[in-house]
Amino acid sequence: MMNSQPYAMPQLNGTEIHVWHLNLAVTPVDQDALWSTLDPSERNRCSQFRSDIHKQRFIATQGTLRILLSSYLGLAPHMLRFERGEHGKPRLAGTGPDRGLVFNVSHSGDRALFAVGLEMALGVDIEIRRPLMHIEGLVDRCFAPSERDRWQSLPPSKRLPAFFDVWTYKEAFIKAVGRGLGLGLSRCVLSSDEIPRWEEIPESCGNPGDWLLRNLNLGEDVSAALCARAPDIHWQLNDAGRFLR
Ligand SMILES: CC(C)(COP(=O)(O)OP(=O)(O)OC[C@H]1O[C@@H](n2cnc3c(N)ncnc32)[C@H](O)[C@@H]1OP(=O)(O)O)[C@@H](O)C(=O)NCCC(=O)NCCS
Repeated sequence: MMNSQPYAMPQLNGTEIHVWHLNLAVTPVDQDALWSTLDPSERNRCSQFRSDIHKQRFIATQGTLRILLSSYLGLAPHMLRFERGEHGKPRLAGTGPDRGLVFNVSHSGDRALFAVGLEMALGVDIEIRRPLMHIEGLVDRCFAPSERDRWQSLPPSKRLPAFFDVWTYKEAFIKAVGRGLGLGLSRCVLSSDEIPRWEEIPESCGNPGDWLLRNLNLGEDVSAALCARAPDIHWQLNDAGRFLR
C-alpha cells in the first residue's frame, strides 16, 4: 500500500548522489496510486505498450520517479514537468523550483534504478544478466581491443557476468553524458583495475579522471553501474520501495 503519510523529505547536498533501486512488481493498489501521478503524455505512452506487464512496469517506474523527485522538492508528484534533451535524456522542465535536481533512470526486466544528484552529469544502468545469442558480435562492436582481449581470456562461466558489468559501465557513462549510443561505446575504454576507472573517453567528455564510476553490486543476477562527472562524490544506495509501503 502506498505510503499515505508524506515520507520524510530526503536531504541532498552537492557532495552526494542518492541511488534508488526498485522491484517493479508492485501491488495493484500501488499501481493505481502510481497511475494517478502520471500526466497525459505518460498515460498515452503507457497505452502504446502491447503487453500488460510492460504497461505495469512503465507505470511503476515513472510513478515512482515522480514520487521520488517530488519528495526532494516538496511538491505533489503530479506537479512535476519533464522535458527531454537533444538526444532524449529526460530532465525536470525548468518551470518550477527544481533546486538544481538532476536524475537518471534505468530499467531491465522487473528492476529499476534511479540516481538523483545536484547540478552534475550523472547516469545509471541496470541489466538483468541473461543469455545473449550474439554476445561475441556485441563484444566486437562495443568493446575496445584491450577490453575484448581481457574478456576473451576469461573462463566461459565468467564471460556473461563480465560482459554485462562492462556494458553497464559504458551505458551509465553515455547516459551521464546524455548523447546516446552515438557517442561510441568502444571509444569509452575501461582500465583493468579491480575497481575500474576510465582509461580513455571521447575528448569532448573531458578527462577520464573527472568521472566517478561504480559497480552497484545489486546481486548475482544483475549488473548495475553509476557514473557521474564528480570524481570525489559520496553515494548511497537505498530501496525506493519504502516510498510505496
Ligand atoms: C539512452 C539509452 C542508452 C538507453 O539505454 P537502455 O539500456 O536501452 O535503457 P535504460 O533502461 O538503461 O534507460 C532508459 C532510460 O534512460 C533515459 N534516457 C533516454 N535517453 C537518454 C539519453 N540520451 N541519455 C541519458 N538517459 C536517457 C530515459 O529515462 C529512459 O527511460 P524511458 O525509456 O522509460 O524513457 C539508449 O536508448 C540511447 O542511446 N538512446 C538515445 C538515442 C540514440 O542515440 N539512438 C542511437 C541508436 S544506435
